[in-house]
Amino acid sequence: MCGIVGYAGPVAAPSNRPLEIAIEGLRRLEYRGYDSAGVAVVAPGLQQVEVRKKAGKLANLVALLNAEPLPPATAAIGHTRWATHGGPTDVNAHPHVADDGKLALIHNGIIENFAALRDDLKADGSVFYSQTDTEVAAHLLAREYRTHGDLAEAMRATARRLEGTFTLLAVHTDSPGTVVGARHDSPLVVGLGEGENFLGSDVAAFVSATKQALELGQDQVVTITADSVAITDFAGNPVEAQPYTVDWDASAAEKGGFRTFMDKEINDEPQAVADTLLGRTNTAGNLTLDELRIDEALLRTVDKIIVIACGTAAYAGHVAKYAIEHWCRIPVEVELAHEFRYRDAVVSEKTLVVAISQSGETMDTLMAVRHAREQGAKVLSIVNTHGSTIPRESDAVLYTHAGPEIAVASTKAFLAQLTAAYLLGLYLAQVRGTKFPDEIAGVLADLKAMPNKIRTVIDGGDRIRMIARWMDSRSVLFLGRHVGFPVAMEGALKLKELAYIHAEGFAAGELKHGPIALIEPGIPVFVIVPSPRGRDSLHSKVISNIQEIRARGARTLVIAEEGDDAVLPYADEVFWVPQSPTLLSPLVTVVPLQIFACELATARGLDVDQPRNLAKSVTVE
Ligand code: F6R
Repeated sequence: MCGIVGYAGPVAAPSNRPLEIAIEGLRRLEYRGYDSAGVAVVAPGLQQVEVRKKAGKLANLVALLNAEPLPPATAAIGHTRWATHGGPTDVNAHPHVADDGKLALIHNGIIENFAALRDDLKADGSVFYSQTDTEVAAHLLAREYRTHGDLAEAMRATARRLEGTFTLLAVHTDSPGTVVGARHDSPLVVGLGEGENFLGSDVAAFVSATKQALELGQDQVVTITADSVAITDFAGNPVEAQPYTVDWDASAAEKGGFRTFMDKEINDEPQAVADTLLGRTNTAGNLTLDELRIDEALLRTVDKIIVIACGTAAYAGHVAKYAIEHWCRIPVEVELAHEFRYRDAVVSEKTLVVAISQSGETMDTLMAVRHAREQGAKVLSIVNTHGSTIPRESDAVLYTHAGPEIAVASTKAFLAQLTAAYLLGLYLAQVRGTKFPDEIAGVLADLKAMPNKIRTVIDGGDRIRMIARWMDSRSVLFLGRHVGFPVAMEGALKLKELAYIHAEGFAAGELKHGPIALIEPGIPVFVIVPSPRGRDSLHSKVISNIQEIRARGARTLVIAEEGDDAVLPYADEVFWVPQSPTLLSPLVTVVPLQIFACELATARGLDVDQPRNLAKSVTVE
């Protein structure tokens, strides 16, 4: 939510590189917000920071820059906004300027005490132009700079006064080769170049220029120049940052010939699952999750698991519940992170909280992680993004290896989350001895076969694409039982967020308790049918549900396993998926639903990668 990029290059050779890096970084971060975009540059000799900013997508800013080019510079900051305080207008776009035009600042997060600070600053002579909370930080930084005469010291003093969540980056004409940043409960990472350094909300901002990065901790201030990086805490004590190498390939953040990032990311799903499985078993077929660095004895004492997550990640958690309870016989609760935090959940030292997050930055999930740890629970997170905050604050981490997910709607990360959750469930079963080693090895072999099955579904997606292009309904329902239930909810979420049409996912058994009243002639209903080779009663119950809705005129769009002829008499359309064990089946049954939503939205001319009102990485509560 809001993308931030900063660059400091050599003072001796002013060039357009700072601007190019800023724009390229914003292009890669635009998924974090696209209400407006802006840049500011500084250079030796410039008396004022040069700012260009524009409401709307990055393309609008680029057009403005073509019409009103910026001078060569040595440092730059750039921002892409997801509006919180103040509408998405030119004037509310970042950067915000203070100190008579000498200082520019960008912000991600929410400054909660902005009203009191604004009154104080106004009384002191600051003039405000926007409706944003951010402008307060710009004027406060300017005032502190006048007091301290040092931008980093001023940033520390500013950070100490702010309440809420923030990443701030600032440049000042007095130090034209420097960018100063601060972070509190909002992401910021450092990229280390040769004779140049970078800052970004995540590594996507600079991965095309360098893969060497530093993890910034909470409540730290960073100063970058072309050849130095200095980090302190808010009190000014120097801090050693953890270096790491980014394992994302820059091309992974490119469309690579696909129509949209979402098309590409669906196509990447077999790889995301395979990569998440890679290196996590030994030659004897046992799971080796040494990276968890969590005491096995402790895992044996766990008497309850609570999965916390939001949106799609929470649906991965629902699937995890079915798998973990089946394999490990540990009770599993699944809770939306923002709900978990505000109720009196019963948590003890024997509770294992599993936080699932693609970005590793979702504020609701982060706050729930902190809440759980305060209650004495151990937190294990399943996260896709290295260097993000949730893994830093967890007791253990199991990374998914989906690579960067750029489209705002999650697809390949969901499949990678499912895969990691299965691995965790099997690992717990191994440690706690609730399954025999050969049973675990059997499931692992089934898991390893899934990428090819997912590929089969993707390659066979033409029929569902065609149905999507013809779909003119204003409402679509999704039904599933057992692990098909979270898949139904995920299918509905994808359709809502991409195509803006009413969609709901139900547990098929719940139909007769109310939702069946929604069934009217012609309404499309997707039904996810469990394997007939699994629990027989489960399969036959869903077949009965299809009959019930068909009898009332619904158009039944059935996702069923190859060879399941029992669906044929009741299905208006069947989308076949390869045979898979029931618990693993979401890895294939969700794929046609993702393709359907993507295609329908594309056919309606909508922006599939950047749906309206949304942003990836929701870093406000
Ligand atoms: C939906 C989607 C969101 C995210 C949710 C959590 O397509 O992407 O529902 O799943 O905002 O995000 P992460 O996984 O980054 O915590």
